[in-house]
Amino acid sequence: MSKTTAAITAVGGYVPNFVLTNKMLEDMVETNDEWIVSRTGIKERRVLKPEEGQGTSYLAIKAAEDLIKRKNIDPKEIDLVIVATATPDSMVASTAAFVASKIGAVDAYAYDLLAACSSFLFGMSTAASYIESGRYKKVLLIGADKMSSIIDYTDRTTCIIFGDGAGAALFEPNEDGFGLQDEYLRADGSGRQYLGMDAGGSLMPATEETVKNRKHFIYQDGRTVFKFAVSNMADVAEKIMKRNDLEHTDVSWLVPHQANKRIIDATANRMGLDNSKVLMNIEKYGNTTSATLPLLLSDFESKLKKGDNLVFAAFGGGFTWGSIYLKWAY
Ligand code: UT7
Repeated sequence: MSKTTAAITAVGGYVPNFVLTNKMLEDMVETNDEWIVSRTGIKERRVLKPEEGQGTSYLAIKAAEDLIKRKNIDPKEIDLVIVATATPDSMVASTAAFVASKIGAVDAYAYDLLAACSSFLFGMSTAASYIESGRYKKVLLIGADKMSSIIDYTDRTTCIIFGDGAGAALFEPNEDGFGLQDEYLRADGSGRQYLGMDAGGSLMPATEETVKNRKHFIYQDGRTVFKFAVSNMADVAEKIMKRNDLEHTDVSWLVPHQANKRIIDATANRMGLDNSKVLMNIEKYGNTTSATLPLLLSDFESKLKKGDNLVFAAFGGGFTWGSIYLKWAY
């Protein structure tokens, strides 16, 4: 009997209409287009404007609806909806439950998964496990983040980097060997001091002081995070290639977290890949945290061919990081 693997069978994506350009940021903080492009590769990002009164669920619903339309599936067939996010609508009620109801996945259960910028990557492992075990037949994994809700637009070290967006992928059983082949996932809690948001959680609940001291915004020690991200993302991508006897010529696409073009280049370099094999849209979206990987799949779906070998790699707060090797199924 052939082994059941977990294949991605459909993708979708959504970004808000409002475009925040580097030029606009020049009017908000002490920065310039040349610095941002040369240090990060980012030219613009999308923002869900506060006056629209919507949270991350709005982005997730739009991405899921896009997938449902592209694949023409009946949402009632979905067994499980996972929303990978660092910016849930609120602290307690599951964002995924709301999303599942809104898209008509009425026979599904749903929950959120939080691992900073690695949320979607780790979610791929979770979704695949349910499929491989035979427990469920259709798992919808959505990566969605409204980063603008936790960005301090007076802080030039973070506001230039992040943007809002969402992407979705459907996981289904495959009997022909396509789908997730291997994973190498890691975490190191000693990194939490370098990237995060101090207040609003159980450790430091909201008070007048936390608001006054701007503790409800994301901060990062960019230089330290950069160092860890460069070496760890490259390490795991190289490791997964070695473990699966993949030469650089065997890899069809690197699907890297879009945090910084320099980190992506370093990873591709270590893998021996030239630019033509690297999926990248950081220039137009910036870092959308949990949404970067599925947005790449959504944007570049037409380039992906059945049997292509995809190597995913991500790094994020916590620290969390890892790599996944997946064979494209359609
Ligand atoms: O997705 C989660 C994981 N996150 C990441 O992977 C992000 C990792 N870090 C990075 O991508 C980079 O560290 C940044 C893009 C955040 C910063 O780039 P950098 O090359 O590491 O710059 P830096 O922090 O070392 O700063 C260099 C200089 C500093 O000035 P001095 O001290 O050399 O005079 C900064 O004050 O650039 C200054 N600077 C800026 N200048 C213009 C910092 N931010 C800006 C800015 N515009 N926006």
